[in-house]
Amino acid sequence: MKSEIAALGYLGLEVSDLASWKNFASDMLGLQWCPREDGSVDLRMDRYATRVRLHEGPADDLAYAGWEVRDADELARLTARLSDAGHPVEEGDAEACTDRRVAGLIRFADPEGNRHEAFYGPLQRTNDPFVSPLGVAFNTGAQGLGHIVLSCRDKASMMAFFVDLLGFRLSDHILTEVVPGRPLELSFMRCNGRHHSLALAPVPIPKKIVHLMVEVKSIDDVGRAMARCEGQGTHLTFTLGRHSNDEMLSFYPLTPSGFDLEYGWGGLEVDDETWHVVTHHTNSAWGHRYQRPPRPAKAEGA
Ligand SMILES: [Fe+2]
Repeated sequence: MKSEIAALGYLGLEVSDLASWKNFASDMLGLQWCPREDGSVDLRMDRYATRVRLHEGPADDLAYAGWEVRDADELARLTARLSDAGHPVEEGDAEACTDRRVAGLIRFADPEGNRHEAFYGPLQRTNDPFVSPLGVAFNTGAQGLGHIVLSCRDKASMMAFFVDLLGFRLSDHILTEVVPGRPLELSFMRCNGRHHSLALAPVPIPKKIVHLMVEVKSIDDVGRAMARCEGQGTHLTFTLGRHSNDEMLSFYPLTPSGFDLEYGWGGLEVDDETWHVVTHHTNSAWGHRYQRPPRPAKAEGA
């Protein structure tokens, strides 16, 4: 089945500390900080008006994932398939489309209640070009903004939803112990040439999102970002390393919201003709040493 979904187009995050996010996203990672009148912030990384949108709130978690389709016909086909399979679909009205800066929009949920949107016609701001405050160029285009990893309880039903219904293609599995002593099977899915735009991790964490990944065009920008993070004392959940499956060279700084961001370079581009599903027993060819996040200091008298 050919999926209508072409790319991970945008992400919405609910974050409690916008000031720390500004320092993290803009001053350390090189994303462009574009505040809106409603208090939310667009983080830009290319000519799209928004790629990551920050909404102030207590959750410190994923608010929604926005999947791009090519046009209105594709959106209608996706809507019909979701509805026929018994999944409620809400069509976005004009106000919702204006807010998301798209021409058409639907909203739906996956089997574990994560909120997703599919859209077409994203606003391109070619008259107000993306300018990274640190001179960083991001690898987006047809591969979308990057990837997300979602936590899940029932991976089989989540895989059925994303692969069998939405048409994502399975790229591979990793059976490993990311945290020593805890065996884990991670599954990686694609919707374009990027090795994966979505991965599922059956890990018992309170957050919906495990991490999001953005990819830069220069290996030096990975090194520079890592040096900036280390210089500011940002916790690195995984040190520099190269992943076994998508070959991404990356490190994982902890965001101010307590989940990770993977900052990478050199990810594998695959095609449906030659790629075949494989299995790995290690998360990384080298590096990516796990470092336990610091525990918040106990309150006085506690
Ligand atoms: Fe990743």
